[in-house]
Amino acid sequence: MADKIIELKNVTYTYPLASRPALKDISLSLEEGKLYGIIGGNGSGKTTLCITICGFATKFEKGSLDGSVLIKGKDVEDYEEGEVSRMMGYVLQNPFSQISGVRETVLEEIAYGLENLGVAPEKMEERVINIAKKTDIEELLLKNPYELSGGQQQRVALASVLVLEPEILIIDEPTSQLDPEGTESIFKIIRTLKEEGKTVLLVEHKIDLLAEYADEIIVLENGCHIKSGPTHEVLIQRELEEHGIQLPQISVIFDELKKRGKDYGAIPVTCEEALKLLKNA
Ligand SMILES: Nc1ncnc2c1ncn2[C@@H]1O[C@H](COP(=O)(O)OP(=O)(O)OP(=O)(O)O)[C@@H](O)[C@H]1O
Ligand SMILES: [Mg+2]
Repeated sequence: MADKIIELKNVTYTYPLASRPALKDISLSLEEGKLYGIIGGNGSGKTTLCITICGFATKFEKGSLDGSVLIKGKDVEDYEEGEVSRMMGYVLQNPFSQISGVRETVLEEIAYGLENLGVAPEKMEERVINIAKKTDIEELLLKNPYELSGGQQQRVALASVLVLEPEILIIDEPTSQLDPEGTESIFKIIRTLKEEGKTVLLVEHKIDLLAEYADEIIVLENGCHIKSGPTHEVLIQRELEEHGIQLPQISVIFDELKKRGKDYGAIPVTCEEALKLLKNA
């Protein structure tokens, strides 16, 4: 059993001046080294969950939190200033908000976080170049971050967090402004993070990609945690459709086939799995 790296115990969070909580009595236990996909409709609390885990909900948004968020067994509120940000990287849903605004080129922007961490200048350049290659933004390094397209900003925002090499990554809809090719490449990067042993929380609407890459799925609705578990178990539950959750089409098709007497022994969540089932039938 892997170590619990993040635990939420009966977390209820209310934004300042809000009449009702954005998160309601959420308890979750997340294991080190896994990739968690967070899904739910608009306004269901996905971003609020992210900012609550990294401590921003109380620190910057200044809302009220009941219950506790533990990172490696210690309350997120009890860490020293800076400790949490070294451990956890957060890629914001809106990449424009991620840009510091104090640097004129993408290169300097990505190096900015490293300066704050006190990384030596000679090491800094190497790390920036490496991450730029990994995220495919080398040709953008000398551009002004504000002159980039939404998709380019998303890549830069991701690079500026990855360069810090945090062990936990919280990534809020990183592909919303990318085309299918760009999306696939971001998912490949995210897979390499998992291979490096990092824990990743990924908010994403593209269910077919989550089916392929995520170990576990967490489903939110109206601020409540309504379901979670291994991707293969969660993404075949047709009752989730009644909650507005889109399931992978391939799992819906195989479930319909099963209802019509064609049982292939399991319900696949990816096309690759479906092909295997068909070949073995
Ligand atoms: N700063 C804020 N102040 C007050 N209420 C907020 C604030 N930010 C979000 N909310 C409310 O909290 C609830 C959860 O919002 P949240 O942004 O976490 O949802 P989400 O699942 O990330 O949605 P989306 O898919 O649109 O990104 C919503 O009802 C939203 O209106
Ligand atoms: Mg959101």
